[in-house]
Amino acid sequence: MPTMRGPRGATTLSVPASSQSSLDLMATLGAPVVVGALFLACLLTLTGCSDSGDPTGAPPINMPPTATYAADVQPIWDAHCTSCHGAVANAGMDLRSTAGTAMLVGVASATYGGSRVVPGDPAASVLYRKLQGDVSTGDRMPLGGAALSAGELEKVRLWIAGGALDN
Ligand code: HEC
Repeated sequence: MPTMRGPRGATTLSVPASSQSSLDLMATLGAPVVVGALFLACLLTLTGCSDSGDPTGAPPINMPPTATYAADVQPIWDAHCTSCHGAVANAGMDLRSTAGTAMLVGVASATYGGSRVVPGDPAASVLYRKLQGDVSTGDRMPLGGAALSAGELEKVRLWIAGGALDN
């Protein structure tokens, strides 16, 4: 049974040297002065006190959600579509990663009129309508398989709504 240890390997109750010295400072100058000085230091350096600089690189939580083609959409094609839209390309459409977005964005549908993907407009995109099972675009995709999950569909929608970039 391992003993619980603090992040620096010290026992959880020990006070790190840096805290110890600020405790000494507080004793000398009084807590309000120290707190005021720390606040001023933060204002001057703008480091360590800003909550917008997330060190993990994650977007701030108030950013709208987005999806990229390579990270979010291509894996959906790989899992559900490339068996029929790959080396054998039904409707003349290859969805393998080697094809990128070239067979989708601004490309006329082989059958239904309009484009397979209209950047910024999921509802006008034949591909998105077929994934939803819209009656105006024939069979729902993936043909003969379970519909995409709500999460997968949302990734495709976000990618198209965000401009259908080759990202
Ligand atoms: C079992 C085989 C099969 C699978 C799996 C499949 N498709 Fe299809 N797909 C077809 C066939 C056959 C057609 C042509 C008939 C039609 O348009 O419905 C087609 C047509 C399409 C079209 C119309 C293209 C055009 O130019 O009009 C789109 C878009 C499409 N598929 C997207 C997908 C996506 C996205 C997936 C995966 C989520 C997928 N398909 C999975 C067989 C398949």
